[in-house]
Amino acid sequence: MLKGRHLIEPRDFSLEELDQIFSLSEEIIKDQQAYLDVCKGKLLASLFYEPSTRTRFSFEAAMLRLGGQVIGFSEANSSSVSKGESIGDTIKTVGCYADIAVMRHPKEGAPLLASKKSYIPVINAGDGGHQHPTQTLTDLLTIKILKKDLSNHTIGLCGDLKFGRTVHSLVKAMKRYLNINFVFISPEELQIPDYIKDELEENQYYETASLDEVIDKLDILYMTRVQKERFFNEEDYLRLKDSYILTNDKLSAAKEDLIIMHPLPRVNEISVEVDEDPRAVYFQQAKFGMFVRMALIMKLLGVDKNA
Ligand code: CP
Repeated sequence: MLKGRHLIEPRDFSLEELDQIFSLSEEIIKDQQAYLDVCKGKLLASLFYEPSTRTRFSFEAAMLRLGGQVIGFSEANSSSVSKGESIGDTIKTVGCYADIAVMRHPKEGAPLLASKKSYIPVINAGDGGHQHPTQTLTDLLTIKILKKDLSNHTIGLCGDLKFGRTVHSLVKAMKRYLNINFVFISPEELQIPDYIKDELEENQYYETASLDEVIDKLDILYMTRVQKERFFNEEDYLRLKDSYILTNDKLSAAKEDLIIMHPLPRVNEISVEVDEDPRAVYFQQAKFGMFVRMALIMKLLGVDKNA
């Protein structure tokens, strides 16, 4: 039963519960008209303490497309947070007005803290360099629909694997499926943290700094941006920001049925010429993000089209 629960990290939900969300997402994709009113009278609070385009807009679009309404802020300075109000007091207050809250915060653990004080379901929309579970739901739905199965894949994760919360969440989630092999492609300074690797079998992953070395072996290539906002000094960022640039030329060695994913936003890491390649699915992925968030909101609120 997902009604009333929080989503702070992907493993808050069992594989069976994730399946329920994906099945509902696919039903919504097939017949959006059937869900126009299911959240009528419900209110989503959208609490974004950090910038966002996809996550915020897709959550807000999801609630509006379900017939619900949205309140919130996209700059913490426009709320009483600027007067020093705590996360706990903020979420308790928001719970007086809204039925469900989605929170993005630069501090790791802030949504978890909020969930412990909250009377309403709290969804983590990204906390610092830690976790981004609804991006993971988006990524898993994309893989399920486009590759037909969540098991039996070699997935290459490329770019900033140190600070990339989408990567951390996706690895934790994908390792629960059968026969998944990870290839971590990054400069030495941006390698995936040990706490993520420690959860994998030694023969389940391979680390390299070279995309060219491994591109022909991948079923899924998950590109990520080097995140300027997580660096302590500009010099390191400038040195590392263009470590990988995916081009049509590089892709000539890749499998015909590869899918190229990216949580977006992109900077330089995928050349725009690649957008025309049928293997590039990142904008489709962004659209699936709205449908999976529609399903998530419905499940956490316990609403159904037949209710
Ligand atoms: N993928 C993602 O989280 O994008 P935004 O930062 O635009 O929400």
